[in-house]
Amino acid sequence: MCGIIGYTGKKNAVSVILEGLKRLEYRGYDSSGIAFFHDKGIEVRRCTGKIKDLGALLEADKPFSHTAIGHTRWATHGRPSEENAHPHRSDGIVLVHNGIIENYLPLKRRLIDEGYKFTSETDTEVLCHLIEKYSKDYPLEDAVREALKEVRGAYAFAVINEREPGKVVGVKKDSPLVVGLGNGEFFLASDVPAFLNYSRDVIFLDEGEMVVMTDDGVIVTTLDGSPIQKEVKSVSWSPSMAEKGGYRHFMLKEIYEQPRAIADTLRGRIYPESGEVNLDEFGINEKDLEEIDKVFIVACGTSWHAALVGKYMIEEFARVPVDVDIASEFRYRNPILRHGNLLIAITQSGETADTLAAQREAKRLGAKVLSICNVVGSTSTREADAVFYTHSGPEIGVASTKAFTTQIIGLYLFAVALGRLKGTIRDDLVKELIRELLLLPGMVEKVLATDEEVGRIAKELFKADDFLYLGRGINYPIALEGALKLKEISYIHAEGYPAGEMKHGPIALIDEELPVVFLAPKGRLYEKVISNIEEVRSRGGKVISITNEGDTEVCTLSDHCIFVPETNPFLSTILMTVPLQLFAYHTGVLKGCDVDQPRNLAKSVTVE
Ligand code: F6R
Repeated sequence: MCGIIGYTGKKNAVSVILEGLKRLEYRGYDSSGIAFFHDKGIEVRRCTGKIKDLGALLEADKPFSHTAIGHTRWATHGRPSEENAHPHRSDGIVLVHNGIIENYLPLKRRLIDEGYKFTSETDTEVLCHLIEKYSKDYPLEDAVREALKEVRGAYAFAVINEREPGKVVGVKKDSPLVVGLGNGEFFLASDVPAFLNYSRDVIFLDEGEMVVMTDDGVIVTTLDGSPIQKEVKSVSWSPSMAEKGGYRHFMLKEIYEQPRAIADTLRGRIYPESGEVNLDEFGINEKDLEEIDKVFIVACGTSWHAALVGKYMIEEFARVPVDVDIASEFRYRNPILRHGNLLIAITQSGETADTLAAQREAKRLGAKVLSICNVVGSTSTREADAVFYTHSGPEIGVASTKAFTTQIIGLYLFAVALGRLKGTIRDDLVKELIRELLLLPGMVEKVLATDEEVGRIAKELFKADDFLYLGRGINYPIALEGALKLKEISYIHAEGYPAGEMKHGPIALIDEELPVVFLAPKGRLYEKVISNIEEVRSRGGKVISITNEGDTEVCTLSDHCIFVPETNPFLSTILMTVPLQLFAYHTGVLKGCDVDQPRNLAKSVTVE
């Protein structure tokens, strides 16, 4: 996830772009850049850091231009650095991009053979060179069309050509792009707040649409050049509402982003036909992977819950024993690790002090380290032997939501890849597991449709003082995650427990005042969970269950029931998580809490 913007009009484009980038900073903030036309061509300026650093770079000579493009980056390919920052340039073609070019590696090899020189580690640069190649024979919009015939992936980009001053071309596929119409001036951006101070008249581009902006106006076409009549919509959002995409809070927006975040994390990493997982993505060579005889997973907080889910998946698919540790405990418990072991560090931020200390300790003892991380270039990824990036985009809400579900995706892919390599899962099962993965974003969409119902339940229960979350097997960590989310966001005391363990103590808590949330999907432990629900009911506890569509048994035993689609037990953990995130969110809002920045919490815990 990055922010892109383009402008052509009478104002100083450099100032318009800079202001717009500040409003897009929530989409990415590790580096940024701008390209603008001047008398002698196009000038590009880029830097690492926040938009204010880019502002400082422009402060000295205060350039003036009527046409410019800009970018604020959230790295996916290549660490945050000046060379990897956008805009990218290939001779007279200059481009900013948000998305992932899936087939960039073969394209890059071919372009190098054709004599193109690459100056960055990004996937984006191939797009820039490809457009340059065709721009020798075509005007910019046609060069873009030709180039896109060869590109696979997700993209929203804006591109300019030194030979065509005043023109900005943009294309949208699987990443957002909107056009703003002003008085003799036109805007192009990842999101409306970028230009809301100047225009509220917006064209929302659809998949595979191209816009060409010049001083004369805006033309929208399909990629094969057919003109499209687009409806102009008037936006009434305030800038801060618009930044949150119309959602009240970043947390809610990020919960809703999960179908896209999951699809982005999968992008380019699986081959559905053969059921193969792209092992390159784990950065460990096959021989080293084959030799792994024990896995340790370390993490903190929500990431630790993902780690617990990962244990079930790796042990099931790859039949390798897995130890899971809270990072702050691992580093002081004198763990037994050696060559041939793999330590997986799971950390959304890549900067959590305890997780970093644990991964350093593992390295010292001779184990290999794989980091599952959402922030490209973070300390964890720099120090690890191998990295799997969750491409969930920046998470602004302090409580982790989409980062958690994409961590589970990373672990699932790793477990399947390792199992395949070790020959511990059959090929037909691998294919089935991958097929189910591809259906997951659509299923998460369906679960999001329970939002209103979850909100109603929250309204009934938000005054409770305590909650108990119960799940069995792989859903036990999800119970822990549900309880943690509620604690963080609403400050209500909540505990997660293995449902089968309830009778060994927590059962004493149960009375008419205690809501108990059960994770009760169909599967091996279904009957057992039903018995636990009975135990709670017979003591007067209020039961809220999350179960699969079509279930009647659990529902007749529950005060409230939320339905999610059925999938395999491993991916089901993600579907079970979403209503718990929504429940914590609504409860927090009802209690008047600051859900995006809960008290005492920080997004990145860089101290012990
Ligand atoms: C909870 C939450 C925290 C983090 C924990 C680890 O919503 O966000 O519990 O999961 O602080 O952070 P990372 O994953 O950045 O290492």
